[in-house]
Amino acid sequence: MKHLVLIWCVILLCSFTVGEEKSIWLGDMDLSQFDLETGQAMKNQTTRGDTIIIAGTIYQNGVGVGVPAKYLIDLNSSGSRFYAEVGACDRKFRARPAGTATAGANQQPAGGPGGEMPGGGAPGGAMLGGAMPSGAPGGAMPFGTPRVMPTIEFFVLGDKKVIWSSGPMKTGDKAKVVDVEIGGIKKLALIVVSQSVSGSGPGAGPFGSMAAWGNAKITYTGNVAPKALPLKAIGEEPKILTPKESDLPKINHPKVIGATPEKPFIFTIPATGKKPLQFAIDKLPNGLKLDGSTGIISGTSPAQKGTYTLNILVKNSLGVAKDKIELKVGNLLALTPPMGWNSWNAGGMSVDQVKIRAAVDVISDKLRGHGWAFVNIDDGWQADKRTDDGELFTNQKFSDIKGMSDYIHSKGLRFGIYSSPGPRTCGQALGSYQHELQDAMTWGSWGVDYLKYDWCSYRSISAGNTLEELEKPYKIMQDALVKTNRDIVYSLCQYGMGDVWKWGADVNGNSWRTTGDITDNWRSILNTGFKQTNNADYVNPGHWNDPDMLVIGSVGWSAKTLPTKLTKDEQYAHVSLWSLLSSPLLIGCDMTKLDDFTLGLVTNDEVIGINQDILGHQAKLITKGDDYQVWAKDLADGSKAVGIFYTGTTDGGEKDPVKMINWDQQKVDTSKLINLDFSTLGLSGKQAVRNLWSQKDLGTFDGKFETKVNQHGVTLLKIKATK
Ligand code: GAL
Repeated sequence: MKHLVLIWCVILLCSFTVGEEKSIWLGDMDLSQFDLETGQAMKNQTTRGDTIIIAGTIYQNGVGVGVPAKYLIDLNSSGSRFYAEVGACDRKFRARPAGTATAGANQQPAGGPGGEMPGGGAPGGAMLGGAMPSGAPGGAMPFGTPRVMPTIEFFVLGDKKVIWSSGPMKTGDKAKVVDVEIGGIKKLALIVVSQSVSGSGPGAGPFGSMAAWGNAKITYTGNVAPKALPLKAIGEEPKILTPKESDLPKINHPKVIGATPEKPFIFTIPATGKKPLQFAIDKLPNGLKLDGSTGIISGTSPAQKGTYTLNILVKNSLGVAKDKIELKVGNLLALTPPMGWNSWNAGGMSVDQVKIRAAVDVISDKLRGHGWAFVNIDDGWQADKRTDDGELFTNQKFSDIKGMSDYIHSKGLRFGIYSSPGPRTCGQALGSYQHELQDAMTWGSWGVDYLKYDWCSYRSISAGNTLEELEKPYKIMQDALVKTNRDIVYSLCQYGMGDVWKWGADVNGNSWRTTGDITDNWRSILNTGFKQTNNADYVNPGHWNDPDMLVIGSVGWSAKTLPTKLTKDEQYAHVSLWSLLSSPLLIGCDMTKLDDFTLGLVTNDEVIGINQDILGHQAKLITKGDDYQVWAKDLADGSKAVGIFYTGTTDGGEKDPVKMINWDQQKVDTSKLINLDFSTLGLSGKQAVRNLWSQKDLGTFDGKFETKVNQHGVTLLKIKATK
């Protein structure tokens, strides 16, 4: 018996050390190394979280990717075979029943990111047919537009040679089998590209179309398993550019605040500097009081309409800062774009009171001094049923909503909530349909200061085919909001339907979503922010286009959040563009994981100043080349803010699959020299140029300015004529 055991042990040991063939599923490798332009590579499911189905055949095993996709594997010369069944995934255009959504349960937000829809997609994950009128800059598709499916092609490469290719394939084609010998190969690359779609640019070329490597596995010998190699961003990553916060007292943005007469008022003077800080105001209108140690102004706004100039003084042991903030009492709120935090991109429906309080603590400690003011709960706070008298209450995750609201206000911050005009929200929670006034009153009693009102299942009530139908639910709620005892900033969310920017102000909206849901990939940034090209003229103080929230920091749409998939350059571009666009700035990340880089992104007062500029203009696209764009806006001080973006795609249109892979993992210089001709901005003569991220003057330039911009990055400038 003893001998037998010994023999077995020897056999077992040998099989582990020499020669024994093993295999590893592609899905069990590090899929985060997949380089995709949209979505994330997913184990055993498509990028939308669906079962992988190729021409009707279900694949329980495999890896779903967006297109284009690249993956590099170190085989260590120990591979023997690569096997997979590949193809384009069957498309289920799920015209979801009204009110249904995958929100919250998914890795990705409702609305099927992963790029299923060209141009950002529509929440609810469906092609909404008539519900998406044409012209939404975020890519809402004109109703009836035929969908052109790209042809895709799979390649398997070994050490810089194509060893297998599928030839062109389209949705509905049977999977093709790849079964190739890979003996002796050091590095294996897997590529999927899209081949033919009319036109170019977002929505065409890299379409986000779903492909899959079904039953993909590598057989190998030896003890070192094949390993994924990094492909993404092997260039120089930018550093924290925002200078370290000064110890000297400084008064930051906003410099103007709106209120309606005789409503509760709460505002914190945005100031930084070594603590403790002391605050003073020369003359405060009756009804308001200042807490001199925190800078929180609270009370009731004046009954008399008009502009009240608050002369502010902030001091600490090192010095004194003085500035003016205008309090405008009238009919308008949000005179600069709302700045704050929203829970959706930081956990979707998993939001709870504990997370909100944690966010409040970080915001009041680190961000409030830079103007960040709102703490907004998105979907997921509602109870399953209304009370017998129809009241909408909170679920168990929010056991003390009033206590939470008081806590938010005690920190000088403002409290936002979310609902839908339909019977259900996008996350399937209860909406406000036929309870609008009652809900508004409930929120008023909780101390709500901001409402995001999201169309969602309202499509089961109305197709929204006419302007009247589109405006109706928003008017009903607006009528209800003004009856409350609060100043409630009104944020319309209906993804741009019916060119909402043309009429959002008529229903007293302060901002309106112009796009489908954002996700943390470059394609999504191109399809949201960079699509705001035809709506700038509708923006002015109190009325803002909203291309959705920021996807920086640790983000995710289920309880687990992960570092944003945007590169650092892409994050600079994202925040710069949102600032230029005067978009609401709503951070959507897990605040308890706020790292120094992300903190730098949201505490640069010169960049924030572009967003909060009191003129309230939205930047316009000035010039556009194949791979770069220049956006600019006028500022109140007579200067211009200019963003020079290198928007080019990863491969620069590369057609040769071998060249698509950075085989030797070399650092690549991803930058490009871009020339800004001042005449395109309507400027002549000498201009003083300042870099806003580094807060450094770059000098005086005549006629033009040349700058090196990293791929998907930005140079953000302030340009002012010299005297
Ligand atoms: C979507 C909306 C998201 C989020 C979500 C909640 O329609 O665009 O921002 O609010 O609903 O379910």
